[in-house]
Amino acid sequence: MPAVPPTLPPAREPGRYRVALVCLGNICRSPMADVVLTDRVRSAGLDDRVEVVSSGTGDWHVGHPMDRRAAAILTGEGYDASAHRAQQVQASWLTDCDLVLAMDQDNLRDLRSLAGGTADPDRVRLFGDFDPLEPGAEVPDPYYGGTDGFQVVLAMVERTCDVLVAAIRDSPPEDN
Ligand code: 4NP
Repeated sequence: MPAVPPTLPPAREPGRYRVALVCLGNICRSPMADVVLTDRVRSAGLDDRVEVVSSGTGDWHVGHPMDRRAAAILTGEGYDASAHRAQQVQASWLTDCDLVLAMDQDNLRDLRSLAGGTADPDRVRLFGDFDPLEPGAEVPDPYYGGTDGFQVVLAMVERTCDVLVAAIRDSPPEDN
């Protein structure tokens, strides 16, 4: 983890800091990140300060549970993947959420397009911008690959969520 956590944009409104995680289908990468970040937030005692949500840019899987391979990897590491149901991102998330983190460049481009070119680059950006090992990396889409791909996703998600939680924890309370 970086010695000094990155600075996050301030909360738009008083209340819980809203972090949205976005991939293509909302059944693999962003729900894995949602479950891990929610777990880390709870462990840090920040439940009352942070809200985590996730969605996909596409609508094919709306209402579906997490991909069984993603759920199996999470369950094997002690996380609870059972509550997830996929949803599609809404344009309002881009103006309401404090941080909207895309898993890859395609997702980011689609989010910027949904915002009609008005997305704040400090708030709508790559999840991998906070990756301490590979800053700016994309989280590779594991859907058409094997189990290895899901393990790569989990490792990226865990180390990046650690940075995000440290950044939120170290922000002044009035900022989030
Ligand atoms: P995700 O993975 O964006 O990480 O949820 C995918 C899930 C489904 C599809 C592609 C990627 N799909 O083509 O249905």
